[in-house]
Amino acid sequence: MCGIFGCIVNEGEVAPLIHLALKRLEYRGYDSAGIATVYKGLLFLKKDSGRIDEIHEKLDLNSLPGMIGIGHTRWATHGAPNMENAHPHTDCTGKIAIAHNGIIENYIEIKKSLESKGHIFKSRTDSEVFAHLIEDNIKNNMSFEDSVKQAVKLISGSYAIAAIHADEDKILCVKNESPLIIGISDNGVFCASDIPALLPYTNRVIELFDGEMAILSLRNIKIIRIKDESIVQRYETIIDWSMDMAEKGGFPHFMLKEIYEQPRAIRDALRIDKRLINIASMLIENSDRLFLVACGTSYHACLAISYIFSELSLINAIPCIASEFLKSYAQLVDESTVVIAVSQSGETRDTLTAVKNAKMRGAQIIGVTNVIGSELARISDIYLNMQAGPEIGVAATKTYISQLTLLSLLAINFSHNYGLASENIYRRLLSELYEASVIIEKYLRRIDNEAKRIAQVIAPRENVFYLSRGINVASALEGALKLKEISYIHAEGYPAGESKHGPIALVEEGFPCIFITPTGETSVKILGNIMEMKARGAKIISITQDDAHEVKEVSDIFISIESNLSEILTPIIFSPPLQLIAYHTAILRLKDPDKPRNLAKSVTVP
Ligand code: M6R
Repeated sequence: MCGIFGCIVNEGEVAPLIHLALKRLEYRGYDSAGIATVYKGLLFLKKDSGRIDEIHEKLDLNSLPGMIGIGHTRWATHGAPNMENAHPHTDCTGKIAIAHNGIIENYIEIKKSLESKGHIFKSRTDSEVFAHLIEDNIKNNMSFEDSVKQAVKLISGSYAIAAIHADEDKILCVKNESPLIIGISDNGVFCASDIPALLPYTNRVIELFDGEMAILSLRNIKIIRIKDESIVQRYETIIDWSMDMAEKGGFPHFMLKEIYEQPRAIRDALRIDKRLINIASMLIENSDRLFLVACGTSYHACLAISYIFSELSLINAIPCIASEFLKSYAQLVDESTVVIAVSQSGETRDTLTAVKNAKMRGAQIIGVTNVIGSELARISDIYLNMQAGPEIGVAATKTYISQLTLLSLLAINFSHNYGLASENIYRRLLSELYEASVIIEKYLRRIDNEAKRIAQVIAPRENVFYLSRGINVASALEGALKLKEISYIHAEGYPAGESKHGPIALVEEGFPCIFITPTGETSVKILGNIMEMKARGAKIISITQDDAHEVKEVSDIFISIESNLSEILTPIIFSPPLQLIAYHTAILRLKDPDKPRNLAKSVTVP
């Protein structure tokens, strides 16, 4: 996820305005930034790696001349976070600049074809191809507008792009799946990834929809549908947000915003270059031992995925909490070992220590992280990028979904290439992975209210159990961790079959027990565990699927999800309700869910 901003003004210069706007978009990415402006037929550009304040101190971002410009703040996906890969990107002539948010999936083939025509690339990003595509079209006598239109037709993936040309007094914007809005004020026109960037200048906005192009100039704002070139009439809307609210995109907390971003996080994780998944699968095939190493929430993703390896490929993928790895398994590691290390930050000391030790013993490392320039990304033999965009809330939410998605994809791909999954099973599971994002998108608003009702039951209590069987034991552990870390209620997650071996002694009248219950064979088994708890007065709360009728009948409250996903993929759809329950419980207990006490987003100490 990156932030883009563009503006044209009647008076004054744009660079200071773009600089301020980028600061307000910095939550969307902060590993590099840059601004390009147009003045007297020339393009001016300043960009570098680092946070905006650092870049400004070095380069003085306000000193670019001109009344037209674009800016970008980056969350690296393709190419390391360095100066060359920072946006805006330019073409060979140095007259065109573009800022892009999203992923151009087919950039490799486009780049190859442009290189064969003599184009010289300066970065390793997917985005730069767009500047060269425009240049190529202009060389073929197309207007700036037509060049952008034609370039869009060649790219696939997600994008919000703003483009400028040194000889033009306009900004051209195109969009597909990534956000972009237009702002209008008496002093100018603007485009931005998000409302917070616009609010210092205007509250009058026009939405841009997928497949549309906006041509912004001081005289006029024109929107066309790219497919048939028809003109779109769209009226402006007035935004009545406070500046503070807007930074969270209208949500009261980053955590809630990030929970709502999960359908998109699934889709973005699935955009991974499939060749990397194939190479990772091959490494696993050539190994004798497979460990999944991580901490906290990332460990829960590992635990879930170990079930998929076992079910689809009869492989013993051993999940291990990173801080225990050296004592429990390091002695077993040699050249025929693969370690899948999972960390959203890529900087967790315990995970890095385990990885370095395993590497020293000759193991191959598959790193799964959300931060492209992180140490884990650097030291891994293969690095799978989660592409979830920045997660600001301390509690991991959307990055957990990304981990589950990416690791499921790997386990499914492995099974197809080397395990038991037939072509049919493989195709079905792949399409279910995509479907998961649609299911969540459909139910989020509804279950948000249901989670609030459950939070009212939990908030006054001191203990909660989270129980499940099979792969959703990982969901139970993760649900309990979320509740503990942001509401400070003691919660325990464990396999439902274990109650009678001890924990049931704690159960008394009204004790909340949250059962995560997929349909089918598992629900039949869990039903017995529910009845054991119910008989002792527990308050039964179920997170289940629509056709688990008996589970719903015996529950005091339930959240029911319409889906017939295979059980091995249900942790993906069961996570958002558990996160929402934790979130609303924290709110009822007047705790700040974004900044829980004693915790930090990256744990860089052992
Ligand atoms: O950055 P990592 O994924 O390596 O972080 C691991 C844990 O510190 C992290 O998941 C932690 O448990 C979160 N606070 C969970 O919400």
